[in-house]
Amino acid sequence: MAELAPAEGPILDEILDATYEIWHEGLGRQAYTRYYAGQLGTPWGRAQLSRFALVDRGEVRASVKLYMFDATLDGRSLRVAGIGAVFTQPNLRRRGAAADVIARVLERASAEGAGLALLFSEIGPDYYARLGFAPIPTTDVQLRVVESDRHGAPATWVRFGDDRDIPALVAIGQARAAPFRFHLDRDRDLIHYAIAKKRLRAGLGRPGVRALQFFVAEEGGSAVAYVVVSVDRSGQAVTWTIEECGDRDPTGARAGAILQVLIARDSAEHRPVIRGWLPAGFRPPQIVITSEQHSAEVMMVKPLTKQGETALTLCAEDVLYWRGDAF
Ligand SMILES: CC(C)(COP(=O)(O)OP(=O)(O)OC[C@H]1O[C@@H](n2cnc3c(N)ncnc32)[C@H](O)[C@@H]1OP(=O)(O)O)[C@@H](O)C(=O)NCCC(=O)NCCS
Repeated sequence: MAELAPAEGPILDEILDATYEIWHEGLGRQAYTRYYAGQLGTPWGRAQLSRFALVDRGEVRASVKLYMFDATLDGRSLRVAGIGAVFTQPNLRRRGAAADVIARVLERASAEGAGLALLFSEIGPDYYARLGFAPIPTTDVQLRVVESDRHGAPATWVRFGDDRDIPALVAIGQARAAPFRFHLDRDRDLIHYAIAKKRLRAGLGRPGVRALQFFVAEEGGSAVAYVVVSVDRSGQAVTWTIEECGDRDPTGARAGAILQVLIARDSAEHRPVIRGWLPAGFRPPQIVITSEQHSAEVMMVKPLTKQGETALTLCAEDVLYWRGDAF
């Protein structure tokens, strides 16, 4: 009979070998191992990220990652079990292994107090709907940053962000998230993890292909707005993904100004494609949304307790979720 085992040592190597082709994100095989190890090496990763395998007579059948988040749903705290990297060995598919490993990991997460399961499906909603998950539509926006005729940077004091800024980012995020029915409780460790993860991916890749831009606008010695942008030069066009951003100013005008500063650093001919998930109502005046479409990765939830059940009534505008927190 198959057993649930922590994915460590040779089991982890086997999983990384098998999943590399799907989830390498442009990294080499060694770097793919280091990328996961680096995430586990952060304070948040150590405490909240794990991976499990369904093992039968020494053979790995299926595996998943489990992310344990603190979140708020309808004004009350709850633990959320994030399920990622669901994988079954190709020769063992269609025998219920993925369904089995998900069920067992959720049982475990429930025992640890999780009230809701959350995932981002890369294979559409149907498979997970059969396992009791319901979609919450999310929107990918593509946007343009409005530039002045002089193509100059606006007069905003912008500098590189660093770990010292994280407490200010926590406060900015809490104020922005408060009106939403569902959001992660993004504390210092989670924000650090989210930024470190993107930094690792950029740093472990081929030189010049990816970069992470973390910039803040400062007032009175502390960050009052910030943006975290992943830059990807692997395709024909340069792509920017807004992983997260924030602004003490409700209009988002300073976060927009930071984007203008970043844009103005490159020559006008090389404007990137800019994408992200922006919370409802957050539209800095310096940006223009050029297109919106349903996200390719479908956000889905499954209540694990009575408290989690209200998640089934969430609409897109009820949820604040940054692209950089998707897993
Ligand atoms: C998706 C995956 C995990 C399913 O594993 P599995 O152990 O075969 O799953 P189960 O046995 O529990 O369920 C099999 C069912 O899933 C369905 N399924 C598999 N891939 C699917 C897809 N891309 N879209 C919709 N349904 C899918 C199968 O058709 C099968 O249904 P059927 O038996 O009625 O035909 C496996 O195909 C896999 O590892 N794929 C590659 C990694 C991946 O895409 N993971 C999902 C990331 S969100």
